[in-house]
Amino acid sequence: MKTSAPWWAAEDFWRKCAIFITAFMALILILLTFHSLAAITAGAGRVPAYSVINHRIDYRFDRELGRSMPIIGDEVPLFGTKFSEVEARELVNLGKLTVQAKNCMNCHTLLGNGAYYAPDLTKAWLDPGWGNEQARELLMTMFLKDPVANARTFGTGRRMPNPELSDAEVRGVIAFLKWMSAVDTNGFPHGFKPLPQGGS
Ligand code: HEC
Repeated sequence: MKTSAPWWAAEDFWRKCAIFITAFMALILILLTFHSLAAITAGAGRVPAYSVINHRIDYRFDRELGRSMPIIGDEVPLFGTKFSEVEARELVNLGKLTVQAKNCMNCHTLLGNGAYYAPDLTKAWLDPGWGNEQARELLMTMFLKDPVANARTFGTGRRMPNPELSDAEVRGVIAFLKWMSAVDTNGFPHGFKPLPQGGS
């Protein structure tokens, strides 16, 4: 006589479990995808709208949170221009595409991703190495146009080759770096001391 197996040993039970778990996890993945997309969209909580490039961006330690936070300050237009949201998005987008096309990640990290030959660019806009707020735009432009002649070397002796950018691409890259410096990166890079800003 055939003895029936206990319910937990039945093949049918485990097949149903596998189907249910796969379907449930697929649903969770879809929900997480929408959640991540919402979190990384410009204008959402931690990622500022592109028109943030019209403002002073400061970076200060928040005692309650225990980490540094970008602070969006007064209006300080970039290249003396006030960009609409659409224009700002176009400019930042041009900068991002240029950074991808020229493969800056071959040497740099952006938001922690990339190579470790050259400094992380997440807060490059706020780097005290630019001297002061007034000179920064010009020095960044000169550096990106001709990094060989305008090398700073950070004491490492490493040099950046000329990425051969057009004037429009340089402006795009600077807008992209300014926008990226306003992203709340949970305190990354740790211990970064920004260029003193007029508002502070
Ligand atoms: C072959 C390696 C290499 C590539 C590729 C490269 N860089 Fe650099 N970059 C460096 C090095 C090395 C430094 C630091 C030396 C210096 O300042 O001269 C640097 C410094 C910088 C700085 C100053 C960083 C700061 O914190 O002040 C910026 C901005 C920058 N690079 C942007 C770019 C962009 C944008 C691209 C792509 C178009 C790029 N780099 C591609 C090597 C590279």
